[in-house]
Amino acid sequence: MSVTRILTGITTSGTPHLGNYVGAIRPTVAASRTPGTQNFYFLADLHALIKVQDPAKVQRSTLEIAASWLACGLQPDNDRVWFYRQSEILEIPELTWFLTCVAGKGILNRAHAYKAAVDRNAAEGQDPDFGVTAGLFMYPVLMAADILVFNAHKVPVGRDQIQHIEMARDFAQRFNHLYGEPVGKEYFVLPEAQIEEHVATLPGLDGRKMSKSYDNTIPLFAPRDVLKKLIFSIVTDSRAPGEPKDTEGSALFQLYQAFADADETAAMHAAFADGIGWGDAKQRLFERVDREIAPLRERYDELMAKPQIIEAMLLDGARTARERLGTPFMRTLREAVGLRDLSKMPVATTPAAEKAAAAPVLKQYREPDGRFYFKLADGDTVLLQSTGFDNPKDAGAWVARLKREGAAALDAAAGVLATRHDDAAAGLQALARAEAEREAARQRG
Ligand code: TRP
Repeated sequence: MSVTRILTGITTSGTPHLGNYVGAIRPTVAASRTPGTQNFYFLADLHALIKVQDPAKVQRSTLEIAASWLACGLQPDNDRVWFYRQSEILEIPELTWFLTCVAGKGILNRAHAYKAAVDRNAAEGQDPDFGVTAGLFMYPVLMAADILVFNAHKVPVGRDQIQHIEMARDFAQRFNHLYGEPVGKEYFVLPEAQIEEHVATLPGLDGRKMSKSYDNTIPLFAPRDVLKKLIFSIVTDSRAPGEPKDTEGSALFQLYQAFADADETAAMHAAFADGIGWGDAKQRLFERVDREIAPLRERYDELMAKPQIIEAMLLDGARTARERLGTPFMRTLREAVGLRDLSKMPVATTPAAEKAAAAPVLKQYREPDGRFYFKLADGDTVLLQSTGFDNPKDAGAWVARLKREGAAALDAAAGVLATRHDDAAAGLQALARAEAEREAARQRG
């Protein structure tokens, strides 16, 4: 059975809140218990450095988020469920560089967070890149490396992250295409965003999306009395008790719904229609949230008192994930890009090998028009050139067939050729001879 790999990270730049719980922590803990999945959950502490330059805050947030995940039931076993700190996976920064070298700068220019910063500067009459670090600009590449290093299939994220997943797919595709030799070999799986429908809309105290940047959050493990006070400060309209109330657009109702089952939600809906007072509605919300959170809060407080246990767990997760997956995969990627053992360098020493090295080449490539082509060239002479294909596999299939059948396939290929030089048949023969020479040299070692 093939395994679905699920991966997500939380940036360690603050205290986890109910939005993180409903949007990321609760669904990932549930997913980690699904048979047929392999799960990678991590603390995105390298991403935190982009926003937070207060070391104590990064450390505290890392502990709080780790303890939250564990308190909510995550059980790392370093086999089906891995839990680690991003910064411990040394393959991630290395892969970031490989991806940086295939990522289009123009694509990064369009990233929402970077663009917002540039637009803000423009509006304020500043230099466009005022206060913008290269870290902010490179954010999507680092995130792509997080995902691709373990070849995740599904990435549970909020709507605001969809663009980043699309960029990760783009970089993966470019890498596969550029280094996919023989044609069709795929180093990276193309990841997909997994969106929890009700999550992106979890509102904060003021009705806008619950977010650190709006300062409208309810901390996940606030003490009971603080939780109560915050819930009672949720903004409502001025309708008096007895007046029917709208559930539509009500932050209070949406928060309730995120914790309640279908029956409880229906009952609250009816209570709104019956004109429940806001104070009573808030009391019900508080009790419902606290019923779910209280046992978790107890575990959280215990875990926060034993940071050494969490530290050991994270180190173990990182070590095993690297040993089993990250390090061997990176070895393959280093080989793919040409960071190779020099002693294994093929040396053209015999006259036959030299001739083979000078033989025509048949290769597939991509043009700026986005289409795929193949061509047979002997030095500067183009012997064959194809018309464009939409699908790289089609171009690849012709390359394979011409290699296999040689000149015999030329007539069949006529329909996909833009150029056919008189020496094309001879070129294909020379290519076949050179391949045979190379194979013989390989056999000899
Ligand atoms: N950028 C994500 C956020 O702020 C956090 C993150 C970092 C992430 N790397 C990731 C999420 C990889 C999913 C996959 O929410």
